[in-house]
Amino acid sequence: MGDFEVIIYEKTDGIGYVTLNRPQALNAYNLQMRDELYQVLGAIEDDPEVRVAIFKGAGERAFCAGADLTEFLTAPSPVVARQVRWERDIWGLFLSITKPIIAALHGYVLGDGMEIAMCCDLRLASEDAQFGMPEPGLGIIPAACGTQTVPRVIGRAKALEILLTGRWIEAEEARRLKLVNQVVPRTELLPAAERMAKKIGSYDPIAVSYAKQAITRGLDLSLDEGLELEARLGSLISSSK
Ligand code: COA
Repeated sequence: MGDFEVIIYEKTDGIGYVTLNRPQALNAYNLQMRDELYQVLGAIEDDPEVRVAIFKGAGERAFCAGADLTEFLTAPSPVVARQVRWERDIWGLFLSITKPIIAALHGYVLGDGMEIAMCCDLRLASEDAQFGMPEPGLGIIPAACGTQTVPRVIGRAKALEILLTGRWIEAEEARRLKLVNQVVPRTELLPAAERMAKKIGSYDPIAVSYAKQAITRGLDLSLDEGLELEARLGSLISSSK
């Protein structure tokens, strides 16, 4: 893997660690980060040595404070933007990854930061984490799947409340809303994510991947179609043994 400027990618014991690394800008998501994440997601999916990934933010203050406001609305024309997205659909890629991804969330988790977290499968937060979607206050809407992923995780009414009122959610409320799986002390955040990753990584990677796909893809299907998907993946596993 090439050297990255705004993320760090490391691989240890079957875990791929992705660190958003612009702590001086609270890890704000910029175009460079989009391109680097695109590469790294491809590596996670394709590398058989990686069984599970952990996403985290560098520095003490944030997982990610949203889109880089210095690049705000400097994107190319809508036509070019659509073309770029077609060629490099980072969010579509993120949601299509078949390996489990754990988000270790601390400090500010805003806008794109919250949307990155939503693309992950399991979310651990430290006690200082704060979540919010400030987009409507900036005259825009979330464009990194947030309007679709957040209601699928916490339901329509709470998603609308967070998005439309701009209210920030503290870690404990995020846990009650099931926005995050667990809240742990700050010093415990990475160790807890690693324990979870190691447990998942100790299982058959095909079974883990199919289980993830049966749930995540099945949620967007009717019950009958979901059961069909489950049966298909189940029989693929049996025939591979
Ligand atoms: N884009 C670019 N830079 C950002 C940023 C963002 N989204 N969020 C924070 N930064 C930068 C600040 O400009 C500042 O840089 P500087 O030290 O060179 O001045 C640095 O990160 C620290 O942020 P600061 O605002 O000084 O910290 P704070 O504790 O006073 O406030 C926030 C923290 C998160 C409340 C505040 O930074 C903020 O509101 N950020 C924007 C959040 C947002 O609207 N994101 C876009 C969502 S679409």
